[in-house]
Parts: sequence; structure tokens; C-alpha cells
Amino acid sequence: QLPIKISPSILSADFARLGDEVRAIDEGGAEWVHVDVMDGHFVPNISIGPMIVEAIRPVTKKILDVHLMIAPADPYLEAFAKAGSDIITVHAEAGPHLDRSLQAIKSMGKKAGVSLNPSTPVSVIENVIDRLDLILIMSVNPGFGGQSFIPQALEKIMQAKALIGDRPIDLEVDGGVTADNAEEIARAGANALVAGSAIYKGNDPATYAPRINDIRRA
Ligand code: DX5
Ligand code: ZN
Repeated sequence: QLPIKISPSILSADFARLGDEVRAIDEGGAEWVHVDVMDGHFVPNISIGPMIVEAIRPVTKKILDVHLMIAPADPYLEAFAKAGSDIITVHAEAGPHLDRSLQAIKSMGKKAGVSLNPSTPVSVIENVIDRLDLILIMSVNPGFGGQSFIPQALEKIMQAKALIGDRPIDLEVDGGVTADNAEEIARAGANALVAGSAIYKGNDPATYAPRINDIRRA
């Protein structure tokens, strides 16, 4: 298992104070910053685009972990790369040419991830595993923060872990992660935990560091 990373999702941040919200989780000890990009087509919500990635890039030196919930993704990969993303994750369900998308991300010098919706089997990534830097298992149906963890995701984390073997691929989980379920998620094999509402709920920066620590300790 690679080192544990906590990746707070800025989807639950106060967007009127976004720079401060990013700074606060950076200073609060988060390793990564999770950026949820939604297009109102692949998922039933619209969130942020490359301009926001560019705007927060100078605010933190932490890894920008950009989760694209958009279809098609390919026409926008370059914009997200240029905006300063470190990891670019596309959904396996977002188009017929996952291998092409991953090659494009790698050719831009970025780390490449694939995300799987709850209904998508781990087997769809078997043939691209050697192109991957990250696998993102969705533990909610993507589109909104604050949903409950789908327990079936634990089995998929174990399957993904087995597929990864000893490759240096981060195994990330996204949706409904809290200090209460972080232990079983990590035991199943995940090393990167996304948490939106569990960290940003209430939007009081003084609470972020203790909440990040609670998840890490679990
Ligand atoms: C879901 C997003 C998640 C979400 C997580 O569509 O991909 O990153 O913001 O939020 P919580 O942790 O509140 O489930
Ligand atoms: Zn996400």
C-alpha cells in the first residue's frame, strides 16, 4: 500500500472564499486537493471548470487531484493540464476510448487516473492497468457531495487492490467517506481518501485540521 493521502473535496468548500478554503486544508495537513468537475451531462450537476483550477493553483503546492465527471473528456484534457492539474482522472464510462484518454493525459506529463461508477465492474480497467497512476472507486453515484457511502464499494476496493498487485498505483475512494468508515476503507486496500462534507461541513476553517486528523487516525 502506498502512503495514505487525504484529499478534501472543495465541492463542499465555501466558493465565495475558495482561496482561503484551499489554504486552510493545505495548512490543515491534507496531502491532496480534490477538484470535482461536473458538466450537467455525465452527472446531474454543474460545478467548476479549468478557470477555477488555474485560480487555485498559485494558492497551494499540494497535489491537485482533478476528478473529471464530464463526457466527452478528451476535448478538455489539455485545458485542465495547462491549468495546473497534477492528477487527471477520467471516468471509464465517459467514452469508448479510455486508452486514448489515458495516453493523452500521460503525453501532457500528468498522472492519469480512471474512476469507476458504483455499477461499473473493476474488470473494465484490466487492459489499461499499466497506464494508470491512480484508480478511483466511486462509493456514491457521482454528482453531489453529502451522500451516504455504498457498502458494495468495499468489495470493489479489494478487487482493484488485487488487480494493482505491486504496481505503484494509488487506490482512491470517493463519496461518503468519514472518520467512521475510513478504517474499513483503508483495510480493504485504499490509500487515498476523498472527503468533502466530512471536512468542509459548516465551513469553519478551524475544524478542518482536526477532521483531517480524525480521518487519518482512523
Ligand atoms: C461526488 C464527488 C465527490 C464528493 C464527495 O460526485 O465526486 O468528490 O464531493 O463528497 P462527500 O465526501 O461529501 O461524499
Ligand atoms: Zn470526486
